Order: sequence, then C-alpha cells, then structure tokens
Amino acid sequence: MKPSREKIVYVCQECGADSPKWAGQCPGCGVWNRMVEETRRPATVAKSFQTPAAPPVRLRDVDISAVSRLQADWSEWDTVLGGGIVPGSLILVGGDPGIGKSTLLMQVAFRLAAQGRKILYVSGEESGAQIKLRANRLGQPPEQLYLFCETDIEAVLDAARNLNPDLVIVDSIQTLSRAELSSVPGSVGQVRECGAALMGLAKNHGPAVVLVGHVTKEGVLAGPRILEHMVDTVVYFEGDRQFGYRMLRSVKNRFGATHEVGFFDMRSDGLTQIGDPSRLFLQDRHIGSSGTAIGVSLEGTRPLLIEIQALVAQTHFGLPQRRISGLDYNRSILIMAVLERRAGLPLGTQDAFVSVVGGMSVTEPALDLTVAVAMASSFRDIPLDSETVFFGEIGLGGEIRGVSQPERRVQEARQLGFKRCLLPAHNAKVLAHIQDVDLVGVDTLGQALALCFPEFKKRN
Ligand code: TYD
Ligand code: MG
Repeated sequence: MKPSREKIVYVCQECGADSPKWAGQCPGCGVWNRMVEETRRPATVAKSFQTPAAPPVRLRDVDISAVSRLQADWSEWDTVLGGGIVPGSLILVGGDPGIGKSTLLMQVAFRLAAQGRKILYVSGEESGAQIKLRANRLGQPPEQLYLFCETDIEAVLDAARNLNPDLVIVDSIQTLSRAELSSVPGSVGQVRECGAALMGLAKNHGPAVVLVGHVTKEGVLAGPRILEHMVDTVVYFEGDRQFGYRMLRSVKNRFGATHEVGFFDMRSDGLTQIGDPSRLFLQDRHIGSSGTAIGVSLEGTRPLLIEIQALVAQTHFGLPQRRISGLDYNRSILIMAVLERRAGLPLGTQDAFVSVVGGMSVTEPALDLTVAVAMASSFRDIPLDSETVFFGEIGLGGEIRGVSQPERRVQEARQLGFKRCLLPAHNAKVLAHIQDVDLVGVDTLGQALALCFPEFKKRN
C-alpha cells in the first residue's frame, strides 16, 4: 500500500488529544482555545523493521575530543553559554523587541566569521539592505558571513544543507512558517513546527542553530515558551531601554551552568562588554543620603554589588501605596511585615517605594536584609554607613538566615573598597579567615537594626 501524504491534525496542548478538524474546545479534556495545528508525517517503514542508526556504545568509549565549542572570544557571551556554542546545539535567545537581539547576534556572527567559521544569518524580519545598514555600524563584514532573507522553513533548511555552515542564526523564529500549515507565522503551531525542523537540522547535520524569539509583555506570542522545552540552551537578553546596558542571562543550559549573566553596553557602534558591572552600578551613588543600602547578589557564579533605594513616607490619602521595582513584590511586602512585627517599625501607615538602582532586577532572597535596612534608614531618616554592605535572608520570625557562597560576596565587596559587612551570623562564623573586611554577624533583624542605628532601642 502506498503511504498516504502528510496530513494536518489539531492537537490539544493540554491533554494531547487530536482531531482532524479545528475545534474551539478540546474534544478530549474540554479546555478552550488550546487546539494547535500540527503536521503528521506517515512512517514509511514500521518501527520494528528499521535498523537503528548506530548501536549502543559504552558511555566511557564516547569520544568527545572532536567537540570543540565555537568561541566568539567575547567573554561575556562565551561565559553565559558555558564556554562557547556547542556544535549541533540549539540555542534560543529571547527578549523584548528592540532590546538589541539582532545587534548581539550580528556581532557574534562577525566575531565567529572573522575566525574563518562559516555563518548563515537568516532574517525574516529585515531586508538585506537594512541588515547591511546595521552591519555597517559594526565594521566591515567578514568573508564567511552569509545572509539569507527568507521566511519559508523549507527554503531555510535547503540553504543550510547546501551551504553547510558552522552556525545558523534565525532572526526570528516567529517570522518562519511552513506553507502547508494554514496558521499565521508566529502562532504556536508554526513556531513549534519550525522549531522542530531546525532542531532536526542541528542534530542531524551538525550546525549549531541560534533562534531569536520575541517575548511580548501580553504574551501574545506563546511560541517561545514551547521552544524553551525543545532547545538545549535558553538565554534572555534584557535591560531597561532607558539605560544603555543590557544583560544576557541563561535560564537553561544543558552544557553549562544556568543563571550566568553577562553585561553589555549598547553604544552607537554596537554592544561592548562590561567586565566590571558592580562598579557600573555604584558609579552614581549618592553617599550620605538616607534610604539607600548596598547588598551583594549572586547572579550565576558572579557576585554583583547592588544598590537598593527605599523611600518611606507618611500616607496622606487613602490606602498606603507600595511601589516595588526590580524586586519581587510579595517578598518586599513580607519584609515590610517582618519590619513592623519584629522590629517595631510602624510601616502600615506609610507609603513605601523600593527600587533597585540601574534598572536591574534581582530575585535572590540574600538581598532581604539590604531591603530591610534601606527601608529602616528611610523611615528614620538616618543614612547608613557608606562603607558597609548588607546581605542575608530574612525569615518570618525576624531571624537572619545564611545565604550561599558568602565568601564570594564578601570578596567582591572588599575588591570595591568596602570596609564592613553585615551578614548572617551563620555565614560570618565560616569566614573568620577573611582579613581587611570587618565581618559583623547578626542573628535577628532587630540586632541588625540596633547595629545600624545605635541611637534607637531595639524592641525584639
Ligand atoms: P536591534 O538589534 O534591532 O533589536 P532587536 O533585534 O532586539 O529588535 O536593535 C535595537 C536598538 O539598538 C535600536 O533601537 C537601535 C539600537 N542600536 C544602537 O544603539 N547601536 C547600534 O550599534 C545598533 C546596531 C543598534
Ligand atoms: Mg531584530
């Protein structure tokens, strides 16, 4: 019997039930709007008759000497990827539109092509002339950098097979589509289909593939979330557009550590890496004003000094306001509640504004103590000692809990000239050998505040 052609089915994203016709409600589990178009290719040979491509081998016999990562010699980029791009891997670079993803990848392409690697840059968003205009800001394009303006996935796959490059950059996955599917480019079905096709290319033919994915605030393009499960590495390019600097953060990496961050500065001639971000965050510091505190957060393996600013002011109308930026909202509210109940600060009648200076966003609980002392400093209108850094996690009972890797944090503070460090007592005990920095261990939030503001009596 002749195998039938490819057919299109609609698959539920929740339960996996399929249907030959599109339906608003899944016939299997009854959820709405989760049916996604998919192509099904018939298997020509029954599975049991296929010969396996390669027999199983002993793990210890697998040869990895041939695997050499593609290093762009751009340390911030290479580090985030765990030491360079692994050949045959699939990488997703996500980020808001306009943040600089195309610029970043064009620069990576320039650097790799300059080493003689063959790079195929596929753009479905911009014309050749537009890309050339951007490239002109970056310098003379190297010989081995090829450009292909196309949105049809089959054409892209053909071009990649013919050219046989080391790296394919697809900018962006949302613009690619498979003609057989009737859904529009960027829809979940198309993104998944094209993502899977490019994964096939990477795994079978060897080029590493970098996919650019847009993420919108409204989550209109659901595609990238699905892609996150498919790809080997997911990095996000973030930053506040008001500030020139950008952050590259890895959230998944099968070939390296996650949560690594790299810092770049967007200039008129492209992105420049920033090797010393702590200094950048502290450069506009206003010493002597109340409500600011310096903490040390650990981003991946990298300690970063971060300034937290708080403003606490009497509420004059209606409910007290809370505005938190760059920190987890619920965590900040929790710290305020602990300050009120365990340290006697009546914040319930106060408006509170807390932000991380420089537009960074941090989620680490190690900054709890920094936030707490910044708020207390603002409430009492007494500046904190400018040569002290603060870190520690705060528990609901007002206790200060130890944090991971205290030594790296203290060393970073020391390198930037800080003289004193207020940290969890538990951490201070194991760091007794550190010279030059005065380590003050605290067990409770009350103790910490008593040390910061000796003129006030602690309640607990
Ligand atoms: P782009 O890389 O096109 O962003 P994305 O691909 O994420 O949508 O670039 C976005 C912004 O960067 C754009 O507003 C212009 C700016 N830019 C510079 O400031 N300097 C430069 O050298 C380049 C190429 C772009
Ligand atoms: Mg772009």
